[in-house]
Amino acid sequence: MTEHEKSSNVVWHNATVTRARRESQNGHRGGLFWFTGLSGAGKSTLAHTVEEKLHQQGFRTFVLDGDNVRHGLCADLGFSEEDRKENIRRIGHMAMLYVEAGIVVLTAFISPFRADRDNVRKIAGADFHEIYCRCSLEVCEDRDVKGLYKRARAGEIPDFTGISSPYEEPEFANLTVDTESHLDECTGLVYDYIVRSTENGAA
Ligand code: ADX
Repeated sequence: MTEHEKSSNVVWHNATVTRARRESQNGHRGGLFWFTGLSGAGKSTLAHTVEEKLHQQGFRTFVLDGDNVRHGLCADLGFSEEDRKENIRRIGHMAMLYVEAGIVVLTAFISPFRADRDNVRKIAGADFHEIYCRCSLEVCEDRDVKGLYKRARAGEIPDFTGISSPYEEPEFANLTVDTESHLDECTGLVYDYIVRSTENGAA
């Protein structure tokens, strides 16, 4: 049992429709493509653009997005270190259910702490692919699509990533893309990487 499991009387139920059968039907493997980076780095934009391309090619896909998940499943969580840890833990497990269903999951969460991302890597094993959306704080702050950086600088939002809470860059990302200036190029790079990693028979 893990620290989060309260009962030992729960037994995993194995489906007869297995992941392998789903993947064979889909024509590709499932996988978890974990986009990480500062708020405003372009994670969601990139994830959705790549998803569109994959969908048009017949891939079964789903995007899990920070702002959406925080309206429902994680609506009870804030932005303290503990809450972010729990946010990422829940998402990691949920994403793996999608992967079991043979789906290509793209997640767009800041996920600023290395340890939290590494925990998902532990849950997902070889299905986990870390994609670092690299964009400087200056540019993210300049974009300030949601006006949150301005508010954070004014002291209105505590624990704001990059301002009053750290962002820990990945040390061993599977793929690093420069979302500061080359978003079109990033789309192609990520798309190719996902296609390669989800070929039936790929490790
Ligand atoms: S994470 O750190 O737990 O991974 P998540 O990706 O779910 O964060 O949510 C980030 C989004 O919440 C940001 O894009 C931003 O719009 C909003 N947000 C609100 N408060 C904060 C904060 N203190 N730090 C970072 N983002 C925040």
